[in-house]
Amino acid sequence: MQYLEVKTQSQSYKVVVGRDIFERSLQEIFNGSSWDKLFLLVDENVFLHHGDLLLNSLNHFADDVQHLVVPQGESSKTVAFWESTVNFLLTNGVRRNTPLFVAGGGVAGDLGGFVAASVLRGIPLIHIPTTILAMVDSSIGGKTGINHQTGKNLIGAFYQPNMVIADTRFLTSLPRREWINGLSEILKYGAISDASIFNEASIFQAEDYRIIDQEKLISLIYKCIKIKADIVAADEFESGIRAFLNFGHTFAHAIEKACNFDTISHGEAVFLGMLAAQKLSRLTGYSLNENFLEPYKPLYQFRVNPDEVSSEEIYSYMFQDKKRTDKHLKFVLLKEWQSPAVKNVTNKEHIIEAIMLMINEMM
Ligand code: GLY
Repeated sequence: MQYLEVKTQSQSYKVVVGRDIFERSLQEIFNGSSWDKLFLLVDENVFLHHGDLLLNSLNHFADDVQHLVVPQGESSKTVAFWESTVNFLLTNGVRRNTPLFVAGGGVAGDLGGFVAASVLRGIPLIHIPTTILAMVDSSIGGKTGINHQTGKNLIGAFYQPNMVIADTRFLTSLPRREWINGLSEILKYGAISDASIFNEASIFQAEDYRIIDQEKLISLIYKCIKIKADIVAADEFESGIRAFLNFGHTFAHAIEKACNFDTISHGEAVFLGMLAAQKLSRLTGYSLNENFLEPYKPLYQFRVNPDEVSSEEIYSYMFQDKKRTDKHLKFVLLKEWQSPAVKNVTNKEHIIEAIMLMINEMM
């Protein structure tokens, strides 16, 4: 079991990483005390495979454990589902100190985080990320939110959890595609911060993810969380270096929108987005001699028909990015590997060229 501390202005909290650590971590949280009530918000697939474990373990620490299952997919990150979750908590007697445990990937985590932030102006939140992506990215750093009909994550808050328990046992029930989804965020840390990650991520070349060396996996997850924790500690509300975590994401969000958030996953879009951002870095004059992402390309199997997306459409969606602050498009580019910078790019031809590379890579 490995620990690290995320220290932000608004809250410091522990992240625990390891295998089969869920029950032990709960003992630390509750530290001999028990509660009359707690809530669990749980992804439907996680509930199917690990529901008994979650409920039995939590039942040791509370007289009354109320749970609500979150259907898979972005349709759970809606105002309507947020409202039903809030109703569920309020009609079942939530109080200011009642903890909300959230077990799942990015969707359950973003929704649950925003529910915890908004109910009674904030209740204790414990994340149990059950996907690689949620472990290394979305459960850390306090971004919470739901979607609006005009775009993704447009309603939300920064709200740090009280603890994060990343137990790799939960990864065993994930489909291969979901592992690859998380790999993209791991490779992102390689690109912006630590080159050793490109070597260590080679464990993802495994045919069968259930037999991945656990020590290597845990140390890789730990390394990524540490990078994110340091960035978030320095810039909790994204006024500076936290933006580096968006490497590849301006392209990714636009292509996700062009695919109606349906035929491409976030991780697949981020991988393509990083290839495009790498290309744009070169077009802008930075010399990136190697392509560290190249060996990972064969792991991605895109299901998008490239004829159904156009570069102009993707370009126009980039202007809807919620992080845009003026009339120009801003990108996280690489001056060199592990040396990111946020740059305005005004040359449309360069951007279109980078988008074309993304589209061609999908074939
Ligand atoms: N996922 C990027 C961030 O948390 O800032």
